[in-house]
Amino acid sequence: MLRDAKILIKIGGHAIIDRKIMEQVVQDVVFLRCVGAKPMIVHGGGPEITHNMEKFGKEPVFIDGLRVTDDETLEIAEMVLVGKINTDIVRFIVKYGGKGVGLSGIDGLLISARKKGKVLSEKDKKEVDLGLVGEIEKVNTEILEISINNGYIPVVSPIATDIHGNHFNINADTMAGEIAAEVKARKLILLTNVPGVLKDNEVISDLSIDAAGSLIRDRTVTGGMIPKLNASINAVRKGVEKAHILDGSRPHSLLLELFTDEGIGSMIHL
Ligand SMILES: Nc1ncnc2c1ncn2[C@@H]1O[C@H](COP(=O)(O)OP(=O)(O)O)[C@@H](O)[C@H]1O
Ligand SMILES: [Mg+2]
Repeated sequence: MLRDAKILIKIGGHAIIDRKIMEQVVQDVVFLRCVGAKPMIVHGGGPEITHNMEKFGKEPVFIDGLRVTDDETLEIAEMVLVGKINTDIVRFIVKYGGKGVGLSGIDGLLISARKKGKVLSEKDKKEVDLGLVGEIEKVNTEILEISINNGYIPVVSPIATDIHGNHFNINADTMAGEIAAEVKARKLILLTNVPGVLKDNEVISDLSIDAAGSLIRDRTVTGGMIPKLNASINAVRKGVEKAHILDGSRPHSLLLELFTDEGIGSMIHL
């Protein structure tokens, strides 16, 4: 059923804080590879970046789920994402018998970016400069195709570059959505720390992209859930069959979503 299906799995920062959860997710990803699918991982690291910023006496600021990023923040983000979390994920892949390969958007010029323009904050309707946050210009999937066609599970950190050697922080959901679209993934799966998209404390299990857009506009969805819905809408519009948002800390959530009829989180479709 999943033979040769490309599946883009984004592991959220909150699912990463607990290494046991991360290990379990990685185990399921290796399983998917074993049954013939072609899984790819993009990871976040928000809480760990925040924790390290605080160690250096820096106060994190978010605008609609996107981190305002100065030079120091980017340095910390790269250290945590590329130096630590990425390596940990690859190490777990190896532990479960898979072939992991760690990348960032910089490797093979996977993601070319430019500085993102000012954004209009949904919350207070003001224009804000996010600093070194990148906007994706182009996805070059060559390095990913080479990897997945040779049995590797690529693990991508959400850092990108431009051709002048400037580097940028990219929201991991945004990056996962763009990569999913460009590799023509069958599914985009966003693992996070809530059971799905919530409204009045209930999971909305089925969402059209239009309905998802309304949830952002009417502020049912705020903060870190905004880039998840935008990434899902973007991916589905560009041909990914379905996007799923679910709780990565629930044991085997990934497999439950893929192999049960009902699924367990929120599913976003055309
Ligand atoms: N309507 C909503 N449904 C679910 N989560 C929401 C909603 N609105 C805002 N959120 C917030 O979005 C968060 C998930 O985004 P984020 O903190 O960036 O997680 P991740 O590390 O997985 O990217 C949730 O923990 C929740 O606080
Ligand atoms: Mg997030």
